Amino acid sequence: MARKKIIAGNWKMNMTPSEAVALVETLKPLVQNDDVDVVFGVPAIDIVPVVEACKGTNIAVAAENMYFEESGAYTGEISPKMLVDAGVKYVILGHSERRDYFKETDADVNKKVLKAIEHGITPIMCCGESLEQREQGITMDFIRQQVKIGLQNVTADQAKKMVIAYEPIWAIGTGKTATSEQAEEVCRGIRQCIAEIYDDATAAEIRIQYGGSVNAGNAAELFAMEDIDGGLVGGASLKPDFGKIVCYNK
Ligand code: 13P
Repeated sequence: MARKKIIAGNWKMNMTPSEAVALVETLKPLVQNDDVDVVFGVPAIDIVPVVEACKGTNIAVAAENMYFEESGAYTGEISPKMLVDAGVKYVILGHSERRDYFKETDADVNKKVLKAIEHGITPIMCCGESLEQREQGITMDFIRQQVKIGLQNVTADQAKKMVIAYEPIWAIGTGKTATSEQAEEVCRGIRQCIAEIYDDATAAEIRIQYGGSVNAGNAAELFAMEDIDGGLVGGASLKPDFGKIVCYNK
């Protein structure tokens, strides 16, 4: 069974609620591609208006983060129940910016992954090495660790429905994309790691995205690689170019 591509935007900390709705209106007609699952990952405050603006379209909405408790005294945090009630289908977890600036650990990411799954939200679990780690030749060791801890206590059936995003930190927001061979090598390595943790059937089903300076010019080549099942797109997801990325095969 061929894996359906999944192409997600990660808006990061951009777009006020009114700007968000305007961007959805601009992008809606440009992101029509039945071959692809299309996801907009938006700031928490934009979720409600964006879900409303996406009603009746092929666009699913993702949160960019989520806390691992149900409710309670966690000032400033957002619970899985809130996301479900608002109509969110996916949640980006463990993005390198959250790991770096907000000190999220692999163990935190694991708790969030388990909680999201419990509530029927599909995690897009991010992993990726720094330039220093790449230069030291420890890319795959580091990523295997992130993936193994992130997936602790996740069953094979749950893992099959998840998305993993491989995002080399040195390629994020730098305009320096990994070559399709570099990206494929790590995505294949992640799939092998999934096969070791679970089995070949799980590895064959889980979807693995590449992220890091994906743009309208390089998307088709990246997404043509055997183990790359789409992309997690930052800067270019805020522009009409995102339509070209989603329609990379047209
Ligand atoms: P850019 O596409 O801006 O490099 O960002 C990638 C990213 O971090 C997506 O999550």
